[in-house]
Amino acid sequence: AQAADKAKKLLGFKPVAKSLADAVIVPEGYDAQIIYALGDPLTANTPDYKNDGTDADFENRAGDHHDGMEWFGLSADGKPSTTATNRGILGVNHEATTDEKLSSFFIHPTGGTATLPRPAAEVDKELAIHGVSFVEVRKNAAGKWEYVKASAFNRRFTTLTEMEISGPARGNALLKTKYSPDGTKTRGTLNNCGTGKSPWGTLMTGEENWNGYFFRAKGDDEARGNDKSVTALKRYGRAEGAASRHGWESAGSDDKYMRWNNVKTGTSADGSDDYRNEMNGQGYVVEMDPYDKTKLAKKRTALGRYAHESAAFSLPVNGQPLAVYMGDDARNEYIYKFVSEATWSASDATAADRLAVGDKYLDKGTLYVAKFNADGTGEWIELSINNPKIKGYDKYAFADQADVAVNARLAGDAVGATKMDRPEWCSVNPANGEVYFTLTNNANRTSEPKGGSALEPDAANPRAYSDVKGTSRVQTGNSHGHIIRVREAGGAGAKAFSWDIYLFGAEASADPASINLSKLNANQDLSSPDGLAFSKATGICWIQTDDGAYTDVTNCMMLAALPGKVGDGQKVNINYTKADGAKLTVTTPVGKAPTEGELKRFLVGPKGSEITGIAETPDGKALFINIQHPGEATKMADVTDPAKYESQWPANAGYGAGKRPRSATIVITKKDGGVVGA
Ligand code: FEO
Ligand code: CA
Ligand code: CA
Ligand code: CA
Repeated sequence: AQAADKAKKLLGFKPVAKSLADAVIVPEGYDAQIIYALGDPLTANTPDYKNDGTDADFENRAGDHHDGMEWFGLSADGKPSTTATNRGILGVNHEATTDEKLSSFFIHPTGGTATLPRPAAEVDKELAIHGVSFVEVRKNAAGKWEYVKASAFNRRFTTLTEMEISGPARGNALLKTKYSPDGTKTRGTLNNCGTGKSPWGTLMTGEENWNGYFFRAKGDDEARGNDKSVTALKRYGRAEGAASRHGWESAGSDDKYMRWNNVKTGTSADGSDDYRNEMNGQGYVVEMDPYDKTKLAKKRTALGRYAHESAAFSLPVNGQPLAVYMGDDARNEYIYKFVSEATWSASDATAADRLAVGDKYLDKGTLYVAKFNADGTGEWIELSINNPKIKGYDKYAFADQADVAVNARLAGDAVGATKMDRPEWCSVNPANGEVYFTLTNNANRTSEPKGGSALEPDAANPRAYSDVKGTSRVQTGNSHGHIIRVREAGGAGAKAFSWDIYLFGAEASADPASINLSKLNANQDLSSPDGLAFSKATGICWIQTDDGAYTDVTNCMMLAALPGKVGDGQKVNINYTKADGAKLTVTTPVGKAPTEGELKRFLVGPKGSEITGIAETPDGKALFINIQHPGEATKMADVTDPAKYESQWPANAGYGAGKRPRSATIVITKKDGGVVGA
């Protein structure tokens, strides 16, 4: 009855309609205020952002493409606080930048250089807008939230910031570079997408599509003797001869440019005097201390190297191990969990040396990969050098546990893990410990696989089409995505679990028997769930979208959900007829279809934006989210003509100079001072 009472008080807002407006739309009774955008200065001496492409000094400004984000409270006297509600530090990922033809065109006066070689002055700006920022935010005397330009807590991590390699790969031959001949350090963090927050108050930031920033010239496979490093590079998406995303490697002979070309330039056998292993320094969950600027960030290699999104901790239980849940966001990649060797001690939650606590729980333990069985059970398979399937893998000769961690995708292949529809964020339901994973979409899921990377639907990834009768939007693949959830069979360290599919993205008008399986109505329908996090204050599950399949109807959005639990629905059959007439039926466990009181749309963003990042004050009364890449479809040729921008947000909402669109953090509050989502 208590739970029902609480649910009655939540999701009381009037749902927001789908929208194509160039604006952030929230329900009646709520305010959404912009507080921190691309280029905002982070020191007292950094000039205001002109937003015309002439700004410099991005090492001291907000980066681009705000993504995952976490809140770290500060007491009135500036000490770490788990209860503070009006002063804190936001840890903000700056994933990427709006670009076309190599150039991040909005930060250059007339769009920048679209050909190789890239000018060093342009590349220096681009190197600095990626990474992470810590920025202090506070409620001012007038009760309005603002960021604090001159705060001593403000800090930037860029693609060039020195970082420690920690865990099994520290000092391993795979990490030896000219920059760090002993393999203990690397420079920078890259394409930071989802986040997590450790129980001891540090930021966990996931490096996602880092591989695309590196270059290998034609002939590099042969120069490497077609050794196992070539197998690894290809498995991680770096074929020789493929262009890099920005051509940074072309900007000059300085190491900071050369490192993006993973080439042998030296004479060492192990790469310790060249750039061959540079890519092995990216692809981790990186732990950062928001409160202590003297501490280097640590790359937690025990958690595996892949296209990381968020890192979600199990609910800590004294004397039990901690689990960290993670997804690898690429088509047909895996879901992972890391289980700590050390068991949880509650006193570590408030330790002064936070990264030492990270050393204790995150450097030693066991990495697992998920296998989803068709009957609604699943298993966590150990990715250990002692696993005979890994030790004896015929496609890649693993040398040691460091090799398994650095090449976790190959280890997942070796043990036959389940290939998923692009695992994005995950989060643990504070009410029952169940783990939710968004599977954003997968164009390669089809009932007609014709080789390559195309896969037939299976129980955990059961949809391979999403057409709406009577419209032209007929798509192959799982274009709207779904959310799968897992219940451990006995605590964070369990090796078995049960699962079901909590929610299918779909258009409300789609066929409820094969596509709109969660029976979504027009106030609930969504495509491509990506960001997802449970509020610790309210228990609301916030779901955010990053969607290319529904943006002709609506901009991306955020919804509020009050989910039930694994097994609260029923099994559903999805039927396919193949081109040759053969039938394929996929049976899958689907959660109870949500009522509007259990799922409704809370926010729609401006044109071209993805909604991402979920952070809140501990009282649940301020919710911070990010508007990523508004106006992303703007053409580089139109960079000096605001009339042609896809979006002019946030300038059109009164924030800042210039009209170029900017990624930004907003804070959502309820006008009556209540909790967000009530
Ligand atoms: Fe950066 Fe997978 O989204
Ligand atoms: Ca994402
Ligand atoms: Ca995405
Ligand atoms: Ca994006």
